[in-house]
Amino acid sequence: MTSARTQPTQPDRTTHPTLAIVGVTGAVGQEFLRVLDQRSFPMGGLKLLASARSAGKTAEFRGKTLTIEELTEDSFAGVDIALFSAGGSISKKYAQAAIDAGAVVVDNSSAFRMTDGVPLVVPEVNADAITAANIGLGEGQVPGVIANPNCSTIIMLLAVTPIHRAVGVKRLVVSTYQAASGAGAAAMAELEQQTREVLEGRQPTCDIFPQQYAFNLFSHNSPVQPNGYNQEELKMVHETHKIWGEQGDNKTGITATCIRVPVMRAHAESINLTLDKPLSEDEAHKLLADAPGVSLIDDRENNRFPTPLDASHVDDVFVGRIRHDLSQPEGYGLDLFVCGDQVRKGAALNAVQIAELLVK
Ligand SMILES: NC(=O)c1ccc[n+]([C@@H]2O[C@H](COP(=O)([O-])OP(=O)(O)OC[C@H]3O[C@@H](n4cnc5c(N)ncnc54)[C@H](OP(=O)(O)O)[C@@H]3O)[C@@H](O)[C@H]2O)c1
Repeated sequence: MTSARTQPTQPDRTTHPTLAIVGVTGAVGQEFLRVLDQRSFPMGGLKLLASARSAGKTAEFRGKTLTIEELTEDSFAGVDIALFSAGGSISKKYAQAAIDAGAVVVDNSSAFRMTDGVPLVVPEVNADAITAANIGLGEGQVPGVIANPNCSTIIMLLAVTPIHRAVGVKRLVVSTYQAASGAGAAAMAELEQQTREVLEGRQPTCDIFPQQYAFNLFSHNSPVQPNGYNQEELKMVHETHKIWGEQGDNKTGITATCIRVPVMRAHAESINLTLDKPLSEDEAHKLLADAPGVSLIDDRENNRFPTPLDASHVDDVFVGRIRHDLSQPEGYGLDLFVCGDQVRKGAALNAVQIAELLVK
């Protein structure tokens, strides 16, 4: 007697791609697992990758225990979408191996953001950049890198792009108040440890940041350039121009000051705009209330505006303090205060939204 053996069918990569998470043990990597699960991302398989230090550890996903493997150049066989969040040097070293294996890389690091031909994407703002680059999993599309912008840039652009599209932003001045988690899992642990040490009257341990973080704030820890701006500030400037498709003399004037504050999670930003055409406060409210990925907390009567705690673990970016800038002609200047979860919308969620655009 013979029995017909059915061959296991391969999942269709365009509807159920196999994913890899590079840097799964990190702050963003862990958020990837939550976001993929919460959004019921359709997948044929999931590979968890990190350094040799984490090889053999396990992580739970959709009721299954998965073993973390060491990232090597051979890690990407059968992978369709590789979500990278292990820092720029790892992306530079391994993204090509993923592409050579046929995968689309969605990269959270700054390694390729400003590279010509690499789409830099906030799905609510410029999803069409992926189509233009013809990167994807479908027939006729090619593997490649899609870059996730800097977290502070993403959060700012969710709030400012609807206004820019409606009336034009001539000049943008942003000051950030950035959380510990933006610097990874180790920075969060250091803030917690320092807080305990200071409260107990002990000397705070400064391993990640050179200065005391608990009960303090300081200029962003990224390297300061000869022009006095740190790298985080310049990312906000240059990435915004790329995402808005601005070139040459037609670029919006943008300046940024980035500060680390002793908040565990979610960045805040104070934004001042000079507009090409006048916009009333009511019109600004309506634009932002209708904007995808934006929620308003703007209650003047009760002095209730967005906080990092409101934004923590939430998809939307919160906007409030929407008011005319008194120093500019009526209607031409606008102030906003914005809070967004930079591990989530600033990193993992934005990257998963990009991955969703690749799935049929
Ligand atoms: N945190 C944020 O809010 C945020 C926002 C936007 C973008 N990003 C970017 O996302 C990336 C990750 O940030 P994070 O905050 O999640 O950092 P993190 O918490 O420090 O995690 C780093 C991850 O990289 C892995 N890794 C380090 N060296 C490796 C190696 N040689 N091979 C393979 N994996 C290695 C680590 O694995 P082990 O545990 O095995 O060492 C860990 O999983 C960075 O590029 C960061 O700029 C972060």
